[in-house]
Amino acid sequence: MAKKESPAQRIRDLQEQITQHNKLYYEDDSPEISDLEYDRLLAELVALEKEYPELVSPDSPTQQVGGRPSPTLAPVEHRIPMLSINNTYDEIELRKFDERMRKNLAEEALEYVVELKIDGLAVSLLYENGKLVRAATRGNGRVGEDVTENVLGIKETPKTLKGGNLFSNPPAVIELRGEVYLRRSRFNELNLEIEAKNTEIKEINLELEKLGKTLRRELAPFANPRNAAAGTLKLLDSEESARRGLSLWLYGVGYAEGAEFKTHAEVLKTIESYGCPVNPAYCVCKTVEEILAFRDEWEEQRKELDYDIDGLVIKVNSLSQREALGTTVKSPSWAIAYKYAAEQAVTTLKDIRIQVGKTGALTPVADLEPVFLAGSRVQHASLHNAGEIARKDIRIGDQVVIEKAGEIIPQVVRSLAEKRTGKEKVFAEPTTCPSCGGKVLRVVTSKKEKGEVVKRVSHQCNNVSCPAQLRERLIYFGSRPAMDIEGLGPAMIDLLLDKDMVSDYADIYRLTVNDLTSLKDKGIKNKSANNLVTSISQSKTRGLEQVLAAINIPLVGTAGARLLAQNFGSLENLSKATAEELEAIPEIGPKMAEAIIDFFANDRNKTSLQRLQETGVVMEALEKIDTSSPVAGKTFVLTGTLPTLKRSDAKKMLLAKGAKVSESVSKKTDYVVAGENAGSKLDKAQELDIIILDETDLLELLES
Ligand code: IVH
Repeated sequence: MAKKESPAQRIRDLQEQITQHNKLYYEDDSPEISDLEYDRLLAELVALEKEYPELVSPDSPTQQVGGRPSPTLAPVEHRIPMLSINNTYDEIELRKFDERMRKNLAEEALEYVVELKIDGLAVSLLYENGKLVRAATRGNGRVGEDVTENVLGIKETPKTLKGGNLFSNPPAVIELRGEVYLRRSRFNELNLEIEAKNTEIKEINLELEKLGKTLRRELAPFANPRNAAAGTLKLLDSEESARRGLSLWLYGVGYAEGAEFKTHAEVLKTIESYGCPVNPAYCVCKTVEEILAFRDEWEEQRKELDYDIDGLVIKVNSLSQREALGTTVKSPSWAIAYKYAAEQAVTTLKDIRIQVGKTGALTPVADLEPVFLAGSRVQHASLHNAGEIARKDIRIGDQVVIEKAGEIIPQVVRSLAEKRTGKEKVFAEPTTCPSCGGKVLRVVTSKKEKGEVVKRVSHQCNNVSCPAQLRERLIYFGSRPAMDIEGLGPAMIDLLLDKDMVSDYADIYRLTVNDLTSLKDKGIKNKSANNLVTSISQSKTRGLEQVLAAINIPLVGTAGARLLAQNFGSLENLSKATAEELEAIPEIGPKMAEAIIDFFANDRNKTSLQRLQETGVVMEALEKIDTSSPVAGKTFVLTGTLPTLKRSDAKKMLLAKGAKVSESVSKKTDYVVAGENAGSKLDKAQELDIIILDETDLLELLES
């Protein structure tokens, strides 16, 4: 087995093994282990998850009661990406958001729609000629999973849209968005059912034990309604999914052919008139004070609801203002989630451990005396960095306040100095890396937060051969958002590292079935070895975007990888890009540009990428953009109402020809396309001497 594993690693490892065995058993009809061995794995996972409830993920096999998660749900590409929203927990941030909106809209009247933030899963429902034809999960925002059958099984889902009595009939094609969730009452009922089944299983097992037969598995209860909803929405068995009784609220439109909505409030009223479930608990607010009053009202009332909410979503009401405000790669600028303060608990901080990340960041983690918090037992919490530990004067042995905020991993909020006995120990910053023993680089940066200068003291292991870093990098390389290699999870990486079979990305592609079956004594059978070699080989053609996401370029995540792949087309082009070329992409700033240039200038990275390329991994973008058009590579800003084209259609046409479309006019803008009532963007374009086009000019340019 692998070297000493942390509980989180062991849990991930078990989840992965069990998922793989479920697949072998249910789908391939070729189990590789006995029921007894399977039960042992599952029992260990159930026990560990009970001890570390914060590590129970919705896709853990223990959360798939009565059915399996589907590794085979069909992928669905969202026509318009499903973005997420920025979060805030305090009033000051909310006021800043409001100021930002007012400043960017320069004196225009402003209204918000404030809604409850339902704690479920985002879904997209596509209706064609009034009929529900497809439902999909959010997935990674660009590609989700097809869950049509299960969404059809939800009571509230309109199977066909009614003729809208308020405005017009539903558009021929309309994509609605909303949240699938599980009512608290249903969640409790389902867990009671599981308890009853377990009592039955226990009784049967008593008999089986007497007969010396293999015992039956007990089922794990759902950790919370959200996890239960996630597992249920992704079941392959749509009858079981329907039986569990999911619910649905719809709160927006992704795409609507030919529809001319002016405000979000109008969207809500209209889709309600189509027969859609729209949560009545929303209000139109003109000021932050009105938003806060709505918040206070629901802070109390939320306890009475039969479903979990985790805050409010505040959205600019006018759709044209939204368009003017724009979006970033991750989230729209016109919306913010205002989360309710998290529940807190007090416990003892037993120790502070150092964790090594894939880029060498050393993060302190708190080991806590176990305590119940928001429905689960908590034993670990994040401490962020040494600067924060010093600033909050958190000492080992202290009584500390912890809370669950946004993330699943709880945070240490503060220590209770008045409870000290004198035995508490001040945290000593790491001077050597706990994995490789190498020297540690201490980095001090300051940031202004809420008007206060906050010092961040972080530690970094700069040993490129550090085993812990290599392990994390390899794990990330094979993971879903990166090369997506099924079967290459933490447990497998540990085995391969243990046997010195991999020390670089390229080594993964050189593994053979023979190499893997030499790990027979570690439980790797022929079938798994074959499967893994196949999935490794399949991953070769994922294309540049996945490769860029996988190779751990500092500051480049999946969204950045996509942009770079689209704009440079090949690894070779990107590796030669100058800061100027990189920064010409509106979303890329100087820091990211520098990180990219440094990455490609590094000899080790060069060798590693060279070796990777030699294995036949495709390093070109799959969706090549037409670069022959005169608009390719140019940056456009669209403003005002065009005589015939909708702004969104003009944008699509430009993107298809390789142009970039930005929301704001700057020196980087090449053309501004102006329609009627163009406003401040047109003024700015004139000021900066940027070429201004009308619709006819644009169409000519696109055709030339
Ligand atoms: S609007 C671009 N409205 O919160 C904005 N989201 O982090 C799209 N959510 O993924 C989302 N209640 O799953 C919106 N009333 C509401 C919501 C809501 C819950 C979820 C949704 C989204 C996440 C945002």
